[in-house]
Amino acid sequence: MVSGRFARAKARAAAPRSGLSCSLRMTNDPIPNLTAFDSAALDKAFAALKKQAQQDAAALGAPEAVEAFRLKWLGRKQGLLNDVSSRWLKAAPADAKKAVGERFKKLKELVERLLDEASGSGPSDAALAAEAIDITLPGTRRLTGAEHPITRTMNEIVSVFAALGYSVGVGPEVETDYYNFESMNFPPGHPARDTQDTLVVAGQERRPQRDRLLLRTHTSPVQMRTMELEPPPVRIVIPGKVHRNEADDATHSSMFHQVEGLCVDTNITFSDLKGTLDHAMKALFGSSVKTRLFPSFFPFTEPSADVQISCIFCGGKGCRKCKQSGWIELLGCGMVDPAVFAFAAEKQPAYDPKKISGFAFGMGVERIAMMKYGVSDIGQFFSGDMRFLWQFA
Ligand code: PHE
Repeated sequence: MVSGRFARAKARAAAPRSGLSCSLRMTNDPIPNLTAFDSAALDKAFAALKKQAQQDAAALGAPEAVEAFRLKWLGRKQGLLNDVSSRWLKAAPADAKKAVGERFKKLKELVERLLDEASGSGPSDAALAAEAIDITLPGTRRLTGAEHPITRTMNEIVSVFAALGYSVGVGPEVETDYYNFESMNFPPGHPARDTQDTLVVAGQERRPQRDRLLLRTHTSPVQMRTMELEPPPVRIVIPGKVHRNEADDATHSSMFHQVEGLCVDTNITFSDLKGTLDHAMKALFGSSVKTRLFPSFFPFTEPSADVQISCIFCGGKGCRKCKQSGWIELLGCGMVDPAVFAFAAEKQPAYDPKKISGFAFGMGVERIAMMKYGVSDIGQFFSGDMRFLWQFA
């Protein structure tokens, strides 16, 4: 008989067993003595304890509560199992010892398992079931970041010049009229400005024209910013984003990227320019590529030239890509105009065109990337379409 096992009157009388102040504190009702040791009576008695242990365990959460549970059930002196051992196991008649012992062992294992689960040393069955994964399902593909093809091309161009001893510079995308145009020898009202129309910041009519802000149309203003900061010699490449009033089509974008180059020193000649660019084109497109220069015009270089490379698609024989000419135009360049040095000399007198000379060049990154990767629509670079971008990952 186990009736009165948790007699309420006794429970009220029982003092709290632990000093824990947690709300889940468990106090033990003493285990009543058994009056019968037949297997039905034992089953019933142990089943009641098993149920109690499970109920106690179900309410566990905070570490304090888990410790209270441990004390209540496994406490050395006052734990319930200790009580069961002395009242049921030790008191059992000899022929019932084995039956009580087996049940006691099972109960103890259950309590220990419940404690393990609650203290996190082993997940519950329910938790395991919830976390179960079907390893036959296709896995989740983890996307790693990759360089955008424009960034990659820009870095590649920069590294060709870095290997020649050039340093790398940057400048602002929102630029003043002075740096973008005037100091690059596009005087106010000069028709060359029309070739590089751009967005200007509104509401600046009261500012002097040279201070008005616009989205830079080329990376050339960073030539001036560099020279104002450093006396010659200078060897620098400047990658960056530029903007122009452009009707977007397959080969034009109102936003694109350039890599600018500037080399200033004593005795820099046009052959230095030719040799440098010939080397750079071979490094970028392969050693069999040839270069040639065509006369051109830029306000900030004199003389100026457009650089063409032999068509990388047909090897120079003539194809659709090079419009049957065998040549593809790739960048602008020239010897730094003395007028540009004169602007630089306002801050750095060492830029005296009588003593120094230099060359500059500027190339469009998209055009080079399109050729290198066989991309026919410039818009693809900026569409954000993963089907396109993935190919470069
Ligand atoms: N800034 C010129 C452009 O945007 C390119 C260039 C740079 C030409 C340097 C000559 C020298 O078209």
